[in-house]
Amino acid sequence: MTDAILKMENITKSFGDGDTTVQVLKDISFSVKRGEFVAVVGPSGSGKSTLLSIIGALLTPSTGKVTIDEEMISEYKSSRLTSVRLEKIGFIFQSANLIPYLSVRDQLLLVGDIAGGGRNKKSAVEMLEQLGLGSRLKNYPKELSGGEKQRVAIARAFMNDPELILADEPTASLDSDRGKQVVEMIAREVKSRNKAALMVTHDERVLHLCDRVLYIEDGRIMER
Ligand SMILES: Nc1ncnc2c1ncn2[C@@H]1O[C@H](COP(=O)(O)OP(=O)(O)OP(=O)(O)O)[C@@H](O)[C@H]1O
Ligand SMILES: [Mg+2]
Repeated sequence: MTDAILKMENITKSFGDGDTTVQVLKDISFSVKRGEFVAVVGPSGSGKSTLLSIIGALLTPSTGKVTIDEEMISEYKSSRLTSVRLEKIGFIFQSANLIPYLSVRDQLLLVGDIAGGGRNKKSAVEMLEQLGLGSRLKNYPKELSGGEKQRVAIARAFMNDPELILADEPTASLDSDRGKQVVEMIAREVKSRNKAALMVTHDERVLHLCDRVLYIEDGRIMER
């Protein structure tokens, strides 16, 4: 047993084929322990979303090993990856990615149902209330503002009680108070339940809530 919930070893990722191959990630290695909240910063196009997608089992690396909670997912086929995603990972995307024909409350309950053993209806409503969405439970995505949608996506990411929370610019469409609240909520989840989180952000004002900052530039990563 190690206390690393995430281990990345010599990860590379290239896109394209033949002459037009671009190497987006170059020999990336790092670990994240339980109870750690890690920020990922770096310029646009440096590979941050690609890195998060690989960790979230949405993309496979070209080479290297990804281990989540003792499972080496870089060797897994797609059906097993789906169950790792459902059981262990909470993903907050750069765009909220809500399901258009489900109400706010049902967006959360669907995840709880699919993952099984996740959180129940009561905690779904509590989480939405904490995020200031108590009066929007029955609304549909098209009736919400960008920031409201993003907050629903954040609550949804907690529904399967994930070991690892991955957030790609979760505060991008929020004002600074809401943004801070959301990051504090991620930090609280990590600390109080001994989870881990990796968050891509451009927002310097929330970095003090993180334990470590990883800097990525031109596909290489360093501790800042
Ligand atoms: N599916 C793909 N096919 C080809 N190139 C891709 C693909 N996905 C990403 N890229 C390229 O990889 C590079 C890194 O993209 P990525 O989305 O990881 O950047 P990022 O750091 O998240 O940027 P931003 O801060 O703008 O969100 C970019 O040059 C992008 O064009
Ligand atoms: Mg990105």
